[in-house]
Amino acid sequence: MRVGLSLLLLICSVFCSEITDKTKLKWWQTSIIYQIYPRSFKDSDGDGVGDLKGIISKIDHFVYIGVKAIWLSPFYPSPMKDFGYDISNHTDVDPIFGTLDDFRTLLTECHKRDIKVIIDFVPNHTSDLHPWFLASVRGEEPYKDFYVWTDGIEGPDGTRIKPNNWLSVFGGEVWKWNEQRQQFYYHAFLEEQPDLNYRNPKVIEEMNNVIRFWSEMGVDGIRVDAITNLYEVEDVSLNEPLSEKPGVPEFQYEYLNHIYTSNLPEIEGAIRGWRNAMNEFKTEDGVPRFMVVEFYETPEKRNAYLGYGCDLPFNFDLVDPGITADCGGRCIRDMVDIEYSALPKHSWPNFVLGNHDRKRITKKRGAGAANAMNMLLLTLRGTPTTYYGEEIGMEEVYVPFEDTKDPWGLNYGKERYTEFSRDPCRTPLQWNGDSQSGFTTAEKPWLPVHDNYRTVNVETQKTSKELSPLQLYKQLAELRENTAFQKGDLKYAVVNDNIFSYIRNSVGDPRYLVTINFGKTNSKDDYTDYTDGRFLGRIIAHTGNMKNEPFYKEDMEVPLNGILLQPDQGLVIELLNKRQEL
Ligand code: NOJ
Ligand code: MG
Repeated sequence: MRVGLSLLLLICSVFCSEITDKTKLKWWQTSIIYQIYPRSFKDSDGDGVGDLKGIISKIDHFVYIGVKAIWLSPFYPSPMKDFGYDISNHTDVDPIFGTLDDFRTLLTECHKRDIKVIIDFVPNHTSDLHPWFLASVRGEEPYKDFYVWTDGIEGPDGTRIKPNNWLSVFGGEVWKWNEQRQQFYYHAFLEEQPDLNYRNPKVIEEMNNVIRFWSEMGVDGIRVDAITNLYEVEDVSLNEPLSEKPGVPEFQYEYLNHIYTSNLPEIEGAIRGWRNAMNEFKTEDGVPRFMVVEFYETPEKRNAYLGYGCDLPFNFDLVDPGITADCGGRCIRDMVDIEYSALPKHSWPNFVLGNHDRKRITKKRGAGAANAMNMLLLTLRGTPTTYYGEEIGMEEVYVPFEDTKDPWGLNYGKERYTEFSRDPCRTPLQWNGDSQSGFTTAEKPWLPVHDNYRTVNVETQKTSKELSPLQLYKQLAELRENTAFQKGDLKYAVVNDNIFSYIRNSVGDPRYLVTINFGKTNSKDDYTDYTDGRFLGRIIAHTGNMKNEPFYKEDMEVPLNGILLQPDQGLVIELLNKRQEL
């Protein structure tokens, strides 16, 4: 009996692995994560700034496009110097976004529809108007050492001067003199964003309590902001070495090598602590709360975080420097391959095309590339994160210097602001052809709506007779429900200057060929070396983008030995079980 059972288990471990594996996938492995920048998603009260009630009114959009998890950038009370990333109270909602009750409603309504909610957790710094900082300035306990304070050094004329050459991520000084306390404080970002002191256990405990507060309420996960900057060396007499990067001025962050202020080993302990705090809470589905960290580093460095208790370190390879205008099929395959080949065994890949800090993908590749890019993102193996607007192929808006809001852009002045300003990628989501694209009833939203809103908007794309980015997105999201796309292997097929293609396969499911032309010229290729003898396929999704023949259609059968694709065209093809020579 015993032997029989072990034999059965042994056989099953060989043949049933696909089946048992399937049940093991967690929601964050099977869902698309959709990033919402709350200021720009939907305004419900006519003040020109998006808010929680606005998001609630659009929950059906998530259902329609098939995303099962949303991540909200900060909505907490904030003086908005960095548009919410300068938090003055971690456990409330800024009046501009609504109330805590609005957030509870959003959570309930999302959960009713089986949509998970991920919130932004900003551990590195607070606002300079946070009560902790105000008390710290006054030297009041227990807040006295909540921030990174230093006397600096004595300058030639007896005044106090900053202790070292460190630079802010946004450019310029990291040390700000505080008259009242007669000391400098450290800020990795704006001077209105003083860094918390993670060498103080009380800070760690307070931030764990923030996690507990939201976990208790039922949020499903956190996106950890600016993890790299969490710790600095204690010895502030240490200057960082010059990077020697050509053409980088002294003011710019990239002027130095950040060996004393970035990615310090102490971060591990902090992540482990947050993981433990999250694990204090049970979920209905038994899956621990999810943690994804923001981390612009090499795969080796980001993947180390997997061992500390974070579920995903964002993979920004496609974002930064990412898919540039000239990146063709081979170049994109190489970028994708970094994730697959560097990932430790049993870890889960993820891909991102854009976010609220970086240029939109349509800015880099042109509006016509939106479908090809979404086809790539949604058919790769791993969790995709979509930045709001990508589903309709939203484009960036030119914002003149005079109207620029982003402090990072403003820091660089009129000459260079366009290199840094994040305003162009943060403009309102275009809902329909009404005034201000239906985003707001205000005359002027906080950032301008793109001129193309009459055609590029959710409503028009929903009903359009011609295939729209939104329709394709929805179709691809549905396709992802298929096991082959959720967890099947990915094997590269034809790869050349134009084409990046791959086969998705899973035991018991049909195989699919995804092929996309990322090049600048037409490409006709033979895929039969990769299709296990199959010669015929059936198109189940295409990007449209057909300027001339071939005019692909769904359900069309195509011989696999000569598929012609124009630039920005892509196909998802189901491989048919026909092996006869054509
Ligand atoms: C990273 C965030 O994504 C960015 O928007 C913000 O400005 C900085 N961290 C500072 O919090
Ligand atoms: Mg509003």
